[in-house]
Amino acid sequence: MNKMNSDLHADETLTGMSDQDHSKDDARKKSTGTALVAVPAGSLTGVERDPREEVWGVLHNAKRTEAEVPRTWRRRKIAARREAAVQAFDQLRTQFLQGVRSEGLKRIAVASPRSGNGTTFAAVNLARSLSRVPGCKTVLLDLNLRAPGVAETIGVEAEGNMDEFLTGEISFFQHVVRYNDGLALGLSRSARPNASDLLQSGLVAGAVSEMTHLLKPDVVMLDLPPILEYDDLSAVLPHVDGVLLIADGTSTQTKDIAECERLIKNRSKLMGVVLNRGRT
Ligand SMILES: Nc1ncnc2c1ncn2[C@@H]1O[C@H](COP(=O)(O)OP(=O)(O)OP(=O)(O)O)[C@@H](O)[C@H]1O
Ligand SMILES: [Mg+2]
Repeated sequence: MNKMNSDLHADETLTGMSDQDHSKDDARKKSTGTALVAVPAGSLTGVERDPREEVWGVLHNAKRTEAEVPRTWRRRKIAARREAAVQAFDQLRTQFLQGVRSEGLKRIAVASPRSGNGTTFAAVNLARSLSRVPGCKTVLLDLNLRAPGVAETIGVEAEGNMDEFLTGEISFFQHVVRYNDGLALGLSRSARPNASDLLQSGLVAGAVSEMTHLLKPDVVMLDLPPILEYDDLSAVLPHVDGVLLIADGTSTQTKDIAECERLIKNRSKLMGVVLNRGRT
């Protein structure tokens, strides 16, 4: 018996074949000269399929919008800047995941003191970076109902609005889309005038619970309106485990950061302050 055949027998003993079966099989081998054994996927490597894949696989794929192709002289400059941003967000991701894992934080609000400070830019890039961690699943919800920006920033089409999902007009599976294996998105196409009422109503808690129950993500990120311009943060704070504050290195004042810290203190955990557009 050569080495290949002895290995084959070792595998067959795992399948529970009787001696009689073996003799039949030996005859088959003699007749064909080829032996095939069915080995279930992952049984030797110990790699198992993530059970969450089943429900993530049911989500509609996000429709990517066509990226504008810049002229060649700009292309290199843009690629270099993009690479630097990717590296910065990968570093942030490492610290962020340490906080998430060591302190058991799952639902994180992302917000800035003022409009335009970079909440959406940071939330999208951090979510993308997290989605590149094998086995890590993130959901990013655009809860800036007043001025949604996640779809445009990440480059996909938003087909519905978060408020329709929050109020149950459209179902979870109609609304939430899959950006890639590690990232799902809840998007809004247009601004809603009654944003504050919706966030205050407690519907956010139900939506986040449904999302967490169905998709079992490692992280849920909520993109919020500017903290010092609207009162939406206070409605959301009871339903999140932590807040990531995004400050603009070129315009945010220290007193604004202090005011945001005061509003968050004793109501949620401030995970950290990210200096966007900061100089190294
Ligand atoms: N670090 C950065 N590098 C390059 N562009 C940036 C950076 N941060 C933000 N921007 C750009 O600045 C603009 C405003 O950023 P963004 O939409 O993230 O702000 P925001 O805080 O979400 O604003 P709002 O509160 O109105 O939603 C966007 O065009 C975004 O692409
Ligand atoms: Mg925004």
